[in-house]
Amino acid sequence: MEVALYTNDSKERVREAVDMVDLVSSRTELRKAGASRFTGLCPFHDERSPSFGINPGEKVYYCFGCQASGDAFTFVMETEGVDFKGAIELLADRYKVALELEDEDPRAAEQRQRRERLLELLERTATYYARQLWESREAQRAREYLTQRGLQEGALRQFRVGYAPSAWDTVLTATMRAGFKATELWDAGLLQSNEKTGRKYDRFRSQIIFPLADSRGRVRGFAGRTLGGEGDRRPKYVNSPESDHFHKRSQLFAADLARSAAAKAGTVVVAEGYTDVIAMHQVGVRNSVCIMGTSLTEEQVAELARLAPVVQLALDSDSAGQAAMLRAAKVAAGRKLELRVVPLPKGEDPAELVQREGGEGLARRIAQSVPFVRFRVLRALEAGDLSDAEGKDRVLTELRGIFATLGPSVMRDELLRIAADRMDLSTELLNSLLAAQRGPVGNDAAQQPQGAAQRVPAAPLGRREKQERTFLELCIALPDLGGPALAELDLDADLATPALRRAAVHLREHLSAPTEALDEDEQLTALVRALAVRAAGMEHASAAQFRAERLQLQLHRIERDIAAARARDEPVTELAQRRSATQAQIGRAMEQVMEEGTNRD
Ligand code: CTP
Ligand code: MN
Repeated sequence: MEVALYTNDSKERVREAVDMVDLVSSRTELRKAGASRFTGLCPFHDERSPSFGINPGEKVYYCFGCQASGDAFTFVMETEGVDFKGAIELLADRYKVALELEDEDPRAAEQRQRRERLLELLERTATYYARQLWESREAQRAREYLTQRGLQEGALRQFRVGYAPSAWDTVLTATMRAGFKATELWDAGLLQSNEKTGRKYDRFRSQIIFPLADSRGRVRGFAGRTLGGEGDRRPKYVNSPESDHFHKRSQLFAADLARSAAAKAGTVVVAEGYTDVIAMHQVGVRNSVCIMGTSLTEEQVAELARLAPVVQLALDSDSAGQAAMLRAAKVAAGRKLELRVVPLPKGEDPAELVQREGGEGLARRIAQSVPFVRFRVLRALEAGDLSDAEGKDRVLTELRGIFATLGPSVMRDELLRIAADRMDLSTELLNSLLAAQRGPVGNDAAQQPQGAAQRVPAAPLGRREKQERTFLELCIALPDLGGPALAELDLDADLATPALRRAAVHLREHLSAPTEALDEDEQLTALVRALAVRAAGMEHASAAQFRAERLQLQLHRIERDIAAARARDEPVTELAQRRSATQAQIGRAMEQVMEEGTNRD
C-alpha cells in the first residue's frame, strides 16, 4: 500500500473545495442536462455526441461511451498524467486549500523514504542500462540483434530498452558511487549472491534489459534477455525477483504507454512478449500491452478493464497461447469486458508479423478480430475429429459448453450453421443435441442462474437489466422511497443481473452518499458512479414512476415463477392472476406518470 503523505482530512477538504463543473470545464465544454447533471464530449475518448456526464453534487464523472469514471482526483490524474500526490497538490493549489502532511510515525516515515529511494535507484539503473545500450562498444551485438529483429531506435528509446554489461559489478559500483548502499541494491533486486561465498554481484549481465514499469510509469523491476551466445546456459529471460514492490504477475508491460491510446481507441491489444509490444508501438498500434508470457491474472484483467472495455488478444496461436486465451476468458467472465481474438498466422507472433508484413499487415489482422466465442467454436471444430460419431460426440460436448454461454442471437445462429455444416448435421438436429441434457453439471452451469429458472427462457436480459438499472437509479434519485424499497428487496429473486445485485447491496447501506466507501471494488465503483450520474438527471422523477419500476421488477419475478412452475408441470392459475393484477397496477402507475408529464409542461 501507498503510504499516505497528506492527511485524509486534507484530502477531504480538497474534495469539498473542488468545483467539479469548473474543473471538468477546463477539459471539455459542459452543458446543463438536468438540475444536477452536466454532459459533454468525453475528454477520454473521441466522440461526436456527448456520452460523458458529471454529477457536481457527488463530484463524480462517468462516460457511457468509454466507461471512464472517477472523482476529482482521478480526473486530474488522468488528464494531467500525474500521480495522486500530484493531483492533490494541483487541486489544493487551484481551489486554495492548505495541505497538511501526515504526522507519520517514525517507522512509516522511514518506510516511505526507503521506498522512494528504492524507486529512485531503479529509475537511475534504468537510465544507466539504456545509456549502455546506445553508448558502449560492448553493446554492439545487442544493438545488432535488436535491429535484426526489426526494432528501431526510436521505439527502443521510448521503452527505455537497455543493456547490462558483462562485468560482475558495473551497477554495483556505479550506484554505490552515487550513494546507494549494497543492501538497497539487494532490496531493489539488482544483485544476486554466490551460494557458497555469499558474495553479491550484479544480477543482470550481458543481457538486453527491458525495464518493467507499473501503470504510472515507475520502474519496478527488469527483465534481462540473453543474447544466446555459445556457452551461455542461462534461461532466455531473467527477471527481477518478486518482492513487495515488484510482482510480475500483477503488471502489464506498457500499460503506462498504452493508456491514452487505449482510452481513445476503446480497445487494448494484448500480446505475449516485450518485442511484440515494442514492434506494435513502432508501427503506430500504441494501444498495446503484453502479459509477459504469464497466463493472464486477475490483477492483469482488472488493469485491462481500466484501460479499455474491449480487449483484443493477439496471442500466439500455439497451444500455450490458446490456453492463455481460455484462461483470459475465465478471468474476464463476469466483468464487463469484451474479449476478441486477433487471428495470427500459425507460429507467428505480432513482432514477426510486423517484420514480415509491416504495420498494415498487423492493422489488417487486428481489424479482423473475432468475438472470443466464435473463435472457440471454430477451434473446437478444427481441433476435433469429425470423421466418426464418437469424435463428433466429443466435439458436441465441447460445443455444448460454449453454446450454453450464448443467448438467442444472430451470432448464435450463424455459429450453429457453421458447426452443423462442418459436422454434417442439420442445424435442427445439432440445435436439439446442444440443448439436450444440459444439466447442472459442468462448469457452464455457473453462467446460468441457479435452480429451476435455469431451463426457463427469462425475459431478454438486455431489457431486464435496463429496467433493473432504472430502478436503482430511481432509488438514488428518490431516496425516501428507495431506502425502504431496497430494504424490502429479495435481491436474488428480484434482480437478475449479478452486478446490479451487488450495487443494490451497496446502496442499501449508502443511499444518501452512494459514491462513497467504494474504493476497493473497481467494477462496483464504476457501476455505482454510472447509476449516480444518471440519477442526477432524474430530478423530475415521481413517486408514480418509482412505483411503476418497482412493479416491473415484481412482474419479472412472477413471470419467472410461472415459467418455473410450468417446467415442473405445476398449476399456474394463482400466479397468472397475480401477473394480471400487477400488469394492471403498472398500467395505472404509467397513466399517472403521463398525467404528471402533461401537467408539468
Ligand atoms: N518470458 C519470460 N521468461 C521466459 C520466457 C518468456 O518472462 N523464460 C516472457 C517474456 O515476457 C517474453 C514473453 O514471455 O517476452 C514471450 O515469450 P517468447 O515468445 O518466448 O519471447 P519473445 O518476446 O518472443 O522474445 P524474443 O522475441 O526475444 O525471443
Ligand atoms: Mn515471441
